[in-house]
Amino acid sequence: MPTTNSTSFALAASLFTLTLTTYIYKTHRRTSNLTSIRTSNANDISHIPPCSTESTEERSAPVAVFLGGTAGVGRGMAEAYAKHTNGNAHIILIGRNATNAQAIIDSFPKPTAPGAKHEFIYCDATLMAECKRTIDDLLQRLTTINYLVLSPMFVRSFHKEETSEGKEPKLVLLYYARFKFTRELMPLMQKAKEAGEDAKVYIVGGPGLGKRIDYDDLGFSKKGYSFWKVRRQFPAYLDVILQEFAAQNPLITFIHAYSGPVRSALADNLEWPLFRIFFKVFFELSFPFSHTASGEHMLHAMLTMAKHPGVWSIDMFGETMPEQKIVVATERERKMLWEHSIGETVAPESSTS
Ligand SMILES: NC(=O)c1ccc[n+]([C@@H]2O[C@H](COP(=O)([O-])OP(=O)(O)OC[C@H]3O[C@@H](n4cnc5c(N)ncnc54)[C@H](OP(=O)(O)O)[C@@H]3O)[C@@H](O)[C@H]2O)c1
Ligand SMILES: *[C@@H]1O[C@H](CO)[C@@H](O)[C@H](O)[C@H]1NC(C)=O
Repeated sequence: MPTTNSTSFALAASLFTLTLTTYIYKTHRRTSNLTSIRTSNANDISHIPPCSTESTEERSAPVAVFLGGTAGVGRGMAEAYAKHTNGNAHIILIGRNATNAQAIIDSFPKPTAPGAKHEFIYCDATLMAECKRTIDDLLQRLTTINYLVLSPMFVRSFHKEETSEGKEPKLVLLYYARFKFTRELMPLMQKAKEAGEDAKVYIVGGPGLGKRIDYDDLGFSKKGYSFWKVRRQFPAYLDVILQEFAAQNPLITFIHAYSGPVRSALADNLEWPLFRIFFKVFFELSFPFSHTASGEHMLHAMLTMAKHPGVWSIDMFGETMPEQKIVVATERERKMLWEHSIGETVAPESSTS
């Protein structure tokens, strides 16, 4: 069966990529030093406005939103951010697992600055209706967002699945939900920028890992879904859409980062027990980054490397990637993907309140 073949092929290719990146990591000459990254993060964060030392200001706490902050890379970034701000930030974790969220929030240093607080918002981001509800809530309650970190993912199987809204949930988490959050929260990012503060969107994905986008079949609805196609094209969707976002929002910083192999919760929900165990063992034995280490590297890219507005492509050490590795889309291609993404992310009628 072609789907089974392409799935096996996709798996083999993914494992090959991961093994290769692990090898690159292990032979990395500059042996990236976690301690020095951590020190530089702690130092750099105190120079970024608004910072906790200016607590006389009416709104001193920066606002950081983490969709996918309840596990893995997003959790690592949220924890590193909380630690380096001494908890003096408004940190919002979005996901589904309230127990995990509470445990993470409990581990943060307690906030002392005005406006600083830590909260969890439940959102099943595979559903556009839920995304809309969450975004509306944020638009209503917040005046600015400084950092919007997007890393949600959930893998039960590699086959095509369908949400109650008729969409493929993996595609939604990898791309459409991220698009919707970025587009619709943009007013709050603009406000941060107008106040002279950081305004950065951070997507955990795979810059340069996608090859050609098939513009005749955006969303894989015409020619059919396969995990291999998704793996080949989706990273490029993110590269290209950030180019369009940057063109529309010249003051905002957009970052697309490859986390590299991280010992995360990504394989925990695979439906085949054998696969789950195999991946779990493979992750634990060969993946070089803990979520904590990855969080520091990714945070370093967000705070320090991405210095000015535009699109930044970041590798697993938090460093900028060579430009020629990234697909550069034409304006026409960017517009096609933009229109497609708008169409796919409309919340169903019944959810408009
Ligand atoms: N780990 C790696 O080796 C690796 C390598 C390359 C790229 N990446 C990419 O990095 C990104 C993050 O992966 P990770 O390893 O951090 O994964 P992870 O540990 O499984 O974390 C995924 C996060 O997404 C959230 N999530 C899952 N389903 C959701 C839903 N329906 N609605 C809202 N949130 C949902 C989870 O929270 P809840 O359970 O609370 O919903 C969790 O916070 C993914 O795009 C992945 O493809 C990872
Ligand atoms: C939350 O995650 C933990 C493991 O980290 C799991 O045991 C628990 O069942 C999850 N809860 C929900 C509601 O998914």
